Formats: sequence, C-alpha cells, structure tokens
Amino acid sequence: MTSINYTDRIPNNVNLAGDRQLQRALEHWQPRFLGWWSELGPSDFAAADCYLRTAVGVDAQGWASYGHVRMPDYRWGIFLADPEPNRTIGFGDAFGQPVWQSVPGEYRSTLRRLIVTQGDTEPASVEQQRLLGHIAPSLYDLRNLFQINVEEGRHLWAMVYLLHAHFGRDGREEAEELLARHSGDANNPRILGTFNEPIDDWLSLYMFTYFTDRDGKYQLKCLAESSFDPLARTCRFMLTEEAHHMFVGETGITRVIARTLEVMKELKTDDPAAVRAAGAIDLPLLQRYINFWYSSSLDLFGAEDSSNAAATFANGIKGRPDEATYSEHVCKDGVTEIALPDAQAGARIAQVPQRNAMNETVRQAYAKDCETGLKRWNRTIERAGFDFRLSLPSTRFNRKIGAWANQSVDPAGNPIPRERFERELPGWLPLAADKQFVKSLMQRVVEPGKMAAWIAPPERGINNLAVSYEYVKLS
Ligand SMILES: [Fe+2]
Ligand SMILES: [Fe+2]
Repeated sequence: MTSINYTDRIPNNVNLAGDRQLQRALEHWQPRFLGWWSELGPSDFAAADCYLRTAVGVDAQGWASYGHVRMPDYRWGIFLADPEPNRTIGFGDAFGQPVWQSVPGEYRSTLRRLIVTQGDTEPASVEQQRLLGHIAPSLYDLRNLFQINVEEGRHLWAMVYLLHAHFGRDGREEAEELLARHSGDANNPRILGTFNEPIDDWLSLYMFTYFTDRDGKYQLKCLAESSFDPLARTCRFMLTEEAHHMFVGETGITRVIARTLEVMKELKTDDPAAVRAAGAIDLPLLQRYINFWYSSSLDLFGAEDSSNAAATFANGIKGRPDEATYSEHVCKDGVTEIALPDAQAGARIAQVPQRNAMNETVRQAYAKDCETGLKRWNRTIERAGFDFRLSLPSTRFNRKIGAWANQSVDPAGNPIPRERFERELPGWLPLAADKQFVKSLMQRVVEPGKMAAWIAPPERGINNLAVSYEYVKLS
C-alpha cells in the first residue's frame, strides 16, 4: 500500500516531492484554494473545533482517523487508490490493452473537459451549502455538514492534481477557473444546472445529498473505469469518501419521516395542515421536494441518445458503473431500447445503438439505486398505519436536458395536454408556501444531543460516539 505523506505542505501519496515543478505549481494554487475556502466555504465557523475524519490511508479498512480540527486547518491532500498491477482497458474498442498512465494526445480535450466538469461540482456544492451551519438542527448534523464540505474541497484537490499533473498550462488555467466560477453567479455560474440551485434549508441538503451526491457516485463509478489510470485511481478513492455524503441524505430523510410519523400518530391524522401546526414536515411536501431534486439530478446524466457518450465509451474514457459485472464490454453492434417522446403516441420505444444509449443505461442504474431509500421509507410509513406512499417521479418528468426536456408529462410519466401541464406543474414541485414553511422550521440547535423539533435523533453517533457527543465545539 502507498502511504500518505503528511510532512509535505500538501499531504499526498503520489510522491509529490519527487516532481519539484508540479509540487511548486500546486503549492502556488494552495493559498488560492484557502482564500476561496475562507470567502465561499462555510460561513462563520472558521474558529469552531469540529470532529472530522481525515484520510490516513487509501485501503477500504481503517482509511480515516478522527479528531477535533478547525476547518481551515484541515489537511486537504491528494490521495489516489493503490494501482492495480497490469490493469488493462475494461471496455470499448481498445478492450484488453494496457491502461494509460499519461493522456493520449487525441483524447486530451475530452479528458480535460470531463475532469473540469467533475471538478466544478465539488466547490459548487460547498458554495451552495455555505449558510446552512447557522440553522443546523443539531451539533451532530452540523458536524456532518462540515465533513461533507471539507471532503468536497478535497475532491476539488483530486481533480486539480490531475489538471496540473497531466494537462500542462491549459490544466493550470482550468484549475484557476474552478475557483473563479461560483454557484448561482449570474455572470460566471457553475457548469451544471443543479449546482447553481440554492440549498438554503436542511431538507434541501438531505435531498441534495441523497439524490445529487448519488449522481456523483455514478459519475465517479463511470470514471473509476477509465483507461486513464490516474483518473480511475483518483475516483476510486473519492467513492470511499462519497458514501458518507449519501448516508447523511438517506438518514436525514429517514429521520424527518420518523418525526413526522410520530406527530401523525399522536394527532391521529395525516392532514398536512395539522402536521405543520405541530411543527413537523408533512409527507406531501416531502414528495414535492423529491420530485424536484430527483428530476434535476436525472438531467446530470445527459441526453438519452448521445454521440458523445458513444465516443467516450468507444475510446475507453468513460465506462459503465461496475463495468466488470456486464458480460460484454465492447458493445459495438448491440442495440438498447429506450423510450423517446412521440407527438402522436406520447412515447415510442426506439432501438438505439448500445454505445449511444450509455447515458440512459447509467441513468437507469442510478434510478434503481434511488428506489432503495423510497422502499425503506414506505415500509416505515406502512408500519405506522398510514396509506400515503412516497414515490420517485418518472424519469420523463420535469426534465430540462435530453429527449424529454420540456415535454408535457405528469409525474407518472404520462403525456398530458400542454395547457394542463403548465397549470399543474407548480403543484408537483415545492410551492412557495412549502419553502416558507420549511424555512420557518430552521432554528439553530447547538446543545449537545438536542435536536430540532422537526427531525428525529439519529440511531447512533459518529465513529461509535454517543449522539450527545459535542461534535462541534463552538467558540
Ligand atoms: Fe464530491
Ligand atoms: Fe459528495
């Protein structure tokens, strides 16, 4: 196993000290990163002592150590999963040939674009979440938010390292741009739509970490298959960190539902107005938040029928998640059936060359993964004796990108008249009154072990500590 060097200014397991020019370039970028963090990272908590994990190794077991640290002192570094000896290309035209340790000239701009797009999402999410610390429902949640934030910062480091190490001057310029674009900025926004959406309440944070971080998981899984080995190894280690982010989303929504069901049982009603009057989040509101964040995250997979997707698969740049579990990896002559909009019938099944349908293949795998939480939540609602069920809307609903963009489709995926669609759409998404109500619940709770009234406590604390542990020492 390669060990992490913490004596360098930039912790790393890539022998940075062995390449002085690269080391100097990254040491030059480091203060800019720290400047960005203090300006656009978590607002106002620089002096707080946070119980955070830091990577100390890259193998799945015992890779992190926990301790109290001030966020600006977090050791952001460059950690790649260990190389797989004699690794070969796992898919596409060059299947079975050795993987690349440097960037092939003909794929340089494609790889750079993919790395920049991935890299852009990492600081974007930190910017989106920067004010949430002020309204955290507990110290436990506050700590989880900050853990996610520092790790998204590290994911930016992961991509910036690749840009600096493999893309020369263009790469260094792109690394600067990653700190210059800002989430929601009218003139210089982040690259992808979802990463410009505001996250100004904790319900949105849980939705984002459940749905959008899970999109991240799938993008990373595709890039972890890449023939460009440094990218594959970087993404493999990022996935280790990513699991906690989705855990925060899944358990966050679970705890919101648990509290809501408690109130519903007490009041013996599922009436949203009564639930709200008791200070809990009604299930129909939760459904509208799911509709919004899920459909927005589906767009991140790109167009259903895509020649770009076909090219990156053929060239060995971006594979399918868990490529090894598929029986065939070249996919040259196969076809995939996908549903496309049809003016007469609403939808038609089209036969698309398999490589062109790769975005849709990955999106469907993601959709299936999203279902697992829904099933669990519905079981709890059922056990509590209520008929309401949460559901994922159709992958055709409320899309802004791809074949289904701006189609008049209801949440079940049925085509409906345009006029009805325009009338009903606002009621399927979070209403102004929903957002206002959620906002009204967002009161800061900072006493160790105490929770805001709209959310149940977690089942257990972090790293075997009690829920009542003082996860963040505020100064
Ligand atoms: Fe990330
Ligand atoms: Fe994440």
